[in-house]
Amino acid sequence: MSSPSVNFLAAWAASLRQHPNPRLDRAEDLAFWQQYAVQYDAHASADGTTARSLELIGSLLYPDDTLLDVGAGTGRFALPLANQVRSVTILDQSAAMLDVLERKAAAAGVTNLQRLEADWPNVSVEPHDVVLAAWSLYRQVDLGTALAKLAAVTRRTLVLIGGVGGNPPHRTLVEQHCGMWTESEHPTHLYLAGALWQIGLLAEVRVIVETRTLIGVTVQELARRLAPLSATPGAIAALAEELSPLLKPHTEGWQYCYHQGVGVVIWHVDPTH
Ligand SMILES: C[S@@+](CC[C@H](N)C(=O)[O-])C[C@H]1O[C@@H](n2cnc3c(N)ncnc32)[C@H](O)[C@@H]1O
Repeated sequence: MSSPSVNFLAAWAASLRQHPNPRLDRAEDLAFWQQYAVQYDAHASADGTTARSLELIGSLLYPDDTLLDVGAGTGRFALPLANQVRSVTILDQSAAMLDVLERKAAAAGVTNLQRLEADWPNVSVEPHDVVLAAWSLYRQVDLGTALAKLAAVTRRTLVLIGGVGGNPPHRTLVEQHCGMWTESEHPTHLYLAGALWQIGLLAEVRVIVETRTLIGVTVQELARRLAPLSATPGAIAALAEELSPLLKPHTEGWQYCYHQGVGVVIWHVDPTH
């Protein structure tokens, strides 16, 4: 590859290394998801943060499509999208996450899933019509290899979803009391689109705004959901003490509502699509 005018791949790798995170290590990251699968699912399924992303991805699908969901987790995307396509390959490194996903699929009567427990990009996969990687490329220091492999198994459309580096109103409180902020700090969508450009693939970039509404019987319950999954009970209690100014009374207790920017990068194999 000749030297690019802007080296997005190097900038991405540098930005990951700048904030040392033990979960950049594959074994540490896998252990994390093995431990927190059930809690992640409770957080992820309760607040409606995917409504507009799902609508956008749904508009790119046809009923006869095969869909590959890389880092499918507990199925926040794979499960609702399964109703719109022929089959979905749910790929994840974590057996615990896939177990939760499969339990939910069985309960919902979804039968067109194929499970693939594997570490991306170290796996051999058949091409699929549409390939999705949502919130799952965060530890790919060698982003070029991960993206090239995603593109190689894409027959029609590749969709990447990630954070835009927003600052929701609760961020300062979470950092103060839990000592960390685990949501995306980077304009991930710009790095992803830039990295695709650098490997010769021109992608479309969109930012959509999801509305996240959390309802809890107690303030403590809301604090638990806003805190990082690994926050201690003491940190959650301290966060709860200061959360009230952000909350509104609700018939079931308390409500917290905020907007979250979501970056969506779309690459079509046929650029005239
Ligand atoms: C933040 S969760 C997102 C799950 C789902 N896409 C969603 O949006 O709810 C990240 C998931 O990606 C998986 N993951 C991260 N890196 C991976 C890799 N290199 N190979 C396979 N799975 C990976 C994790 O195990 C986890 O289930």
